[in-house]
Amino acid sequence: MKLVFWHWFWLSFMLLLWSSQGLSSDGLALLALSKSLILPSSLRSNWTASDATPCAWNGVGCNGRNRVIYLDLSSSGISGSIGPEIGHLKYLQNLSLSANNISGSIPPELGNLKKLSLLSLYQNSLSGTIPYELFRNQLLEKVYLNSNQLTGLIPFSVGEMINLKSLWLNENMLSGVLPRSIGNCTKLEELYLHDNQLSGSLPEALSEIKGLRILDATNNRFTGKILFSFENCKLEIFNLSFNNIKGEIPAWLGNCMSLQQLVFVSNSFNSLVVLGAWSIWTHRNACVFDGATPSISRALSATNDERHLWEMAGARCLSSLTSPVHEE
Ligand SMILES: *[C@@H]1O[C@H](CO)[C@@H](O)[C@H](O)[C@H]1NC(C)=O
Ligand SMILES: *[C@@H]1O[C@H](CO)[C@@H](O)[C@H](O)[C@H]1NC(C)=O
Ligand SMILES: *[C@@H]1O[C@H](CO)[C@@H](O)[C@H](O)[C@H]1NC(C)=O
Ligand SMILES: *[C@@H]1O[C@H](CO)[C@@H](O)[C@H](O)[C@H]1NC(C)=O
Ligand SMILES: *[C@@H]1O[C@H](CO)[C@@H](O)[C@H](O)[C@H]1NC(C)=O
Repeated sequence: MKLVFWHWFWLSFMLLLWSSQGLSSDGLALLALSKSLILPSSLRSNWTASDATPCAWNGVGCNGRNRVIYLDLSSSGISGSIGPEIGHLKYLQNLSLSANNISGSIPPELGNLKKLSLLSLYQNSLSGTIPYELFRNQLLEKVYLNSNQLTGLIPFSVGEMINLKSLWLNENMLSGVLPRSIGNCTKLEELYLHDNQLSGSLPEALSEIKGLRILDATNNRFTGKILFSFENCKLEIFNLSFNNIKGEIPAWLGNCMSLQQLVFVSNSFNSLVVLGAWSIWTHRNACVFDGATPSISRALSATNDERHLWEMAGARCLSSLTSPVHEE
């Protein structure tokens, strides 16, 4: 009799525990997050503490075990800041908070999300530095931090994102060098760095990124020569305008069969790089108007002849050469 009673007691006790367990830990993390992240009431109305899981909440998606794997609140009129609670969503694969009004800094706890493959925070008002921890993630494939007010360095840990395909850091206030560890990101295809204050020379290690299609470093403070090269070049867009890059126009550009946009316009008028853009522009005109076959290597070899003429002319007109080269 006693035994039956104890059985009954424990059973009801466990049931009580079970029913009072309430919202899952991922749900609690989201609710905590929504204290600093200000969601519009239409979105928030649906985030209810009495639910067992957050899986049907606006912007939230779960796997079969009710763990949150994506959070997509892009273009939702959100303001406020991202709290450290984001680091509790351990199963998160995609995080999109782009095109909102989010301010404050990027919490280092985002680096705890080891399953993250897409991180999209572009077009907000995020400030502060990029946490070193953020890039210590081998599964990240797409990182969009562009169009914010981020300052400081690109962390050396960028080289730990060995599966990275797209890195968009453009339109921030980042300074310092592009770390040579970037050469570790051998799967990288798109590297947007334009409109920052990056300096130093572009690292030779870029040569390791054999599938790089887009490199846009326009409007930074890069200096030095182009030390990297691509044998089997996949570049489609290569834009280095408005920097202080000097030296020879790299001959390997002749290997870039897919090149559509090559823009080297620079504010350093002595730079041969300006001449390169101009030569390809004239070559493009020859192709368009005179039916010549496009050949970048021919354009480049023409450059050296042109250099001579330009030098004799005192290169007075180079400032008018701001029109981009555009071959299609
Ligand atoms: C929240 O709203 C979305 C669409 O507005 C709906 O699909 C979903 O079922 C709602 N979830 C809950 C828990 O009410
Ligand atoms: C961001 O906030 C400003 C005012 O602070 C407002 O004018 C603007 O519409 C907001 N943008 C978005 C995308 O919500
Ligand atoms: C996550 O984003 C990737 C694009 O990087 C997309 O292919 C995938 O379907 C997304 N997954 C979820 C669960 O939203
Ligand atoms: C480069 O990648 C390897 C793994 O392939 C990693 O162990 C190493 O720390 C990375 N180096 C840098 C500089 O990030
Ligand atoms: C790079 O050059 C292309 C081709 O002219 C142009 O469309 C693009 O806007 C340039 N990028 C920047 C950041 O100026």
